[in-house]
Amino acid sequence: MAEFVLPANSKMIKGESHAAPVDARNAKTFQIYRWSPDDDANPRIDSFTIDLDDCGPMVLDALIKIKSEQDSSLTFRRSCREGICGSCSMNIDGTNTLACLKSIEDVKGDVKIFPLPHMPVVKDLVPDLSNAYRQLTSIEPWLKSDKAAPEGEERQQSPREREKLDGLWECVLCFSCSTACPSYWWNSDEYLGPAVLLQAYRWVADSRDDRKSERLNALDDSFALYRCHTIMNCAKTCPKGLNPGKAIASIKSELASR
Ligand code: SF4
Ligand code: FES
Repeated sequence: MAEFVLPANSKMIKGESHAAPVDARNAKTFQIYRWSPDDDANPRIDSFTIDLDDCGPMVLDALIKIKSEQDSSLTFRRSCREGICGSCSMNIDGTNTLACLKSIEDVKGDVKIFPLPHMPVVKDLVPDLSNAYRQLTSIEPWLKSDKAAPEGEERQQSPREREKLDGLWECVLCFSCSTACPSYWWNSDEYLGPAVLLQAYRWVADSRDDRKSERLNALDDSFALYRCHTIMNCAKTCPKGLNPGKAIASIKSELASR
């Protein structure tokens, strides 16, 4: 069960209700978390009813429709609309996922939408990811090689070496996994969390990188890595079907075998 952090000294209140058009034939209601730092008010749940016969199939389509037609102040992040940019992550129907990959049809009853849990909120459905990005920067997520690539060529990998990156390169850095992890909720100041650790392993596992040992030394820390207690919410929630828990286990195994 996801938990949410409300702004200090606030409580959740009932919000506004926006009805569907009178001629709607396929009405569906979306209950959406609203909070703005500008008006110093309690967070509220606003309810928007739309006609699904006049809307695309995904939750992001509904959010865009609501923003265009019912409340232009509704705030959320999105860019690609096809599960590539990772920016539309939020908690839908109790699960962290990408709004552009979540089918409205899959949700029975009202669609309840909250920001990613346990993160400070910038506004409405937009979490403040500053700490997560600082942590990502700390693992230096780029290729470090002592040798220049051969003149006019790419750096070569065997098919077997390349296969080791499968299940890692597909990560879109949506942070659905980290914000589903109780260890990350309570220790996000020191524990790197599943998203960043999966990225760290992506570089440890890359045959073209010459800093494997240095990278592992940096990860060998009781808080940064070993706060993972294999709860595995990360793998359950990842909208790309990845398994950050397995990547974390691989880092631990690399460290144990040195
Ligand atoms: S591992 Fe999955 S849930 Fe975690 S950041 Fe990457 S894509 Fe998102
Ligand atoms: S809008 Fe890019 S992943 Fe959803």
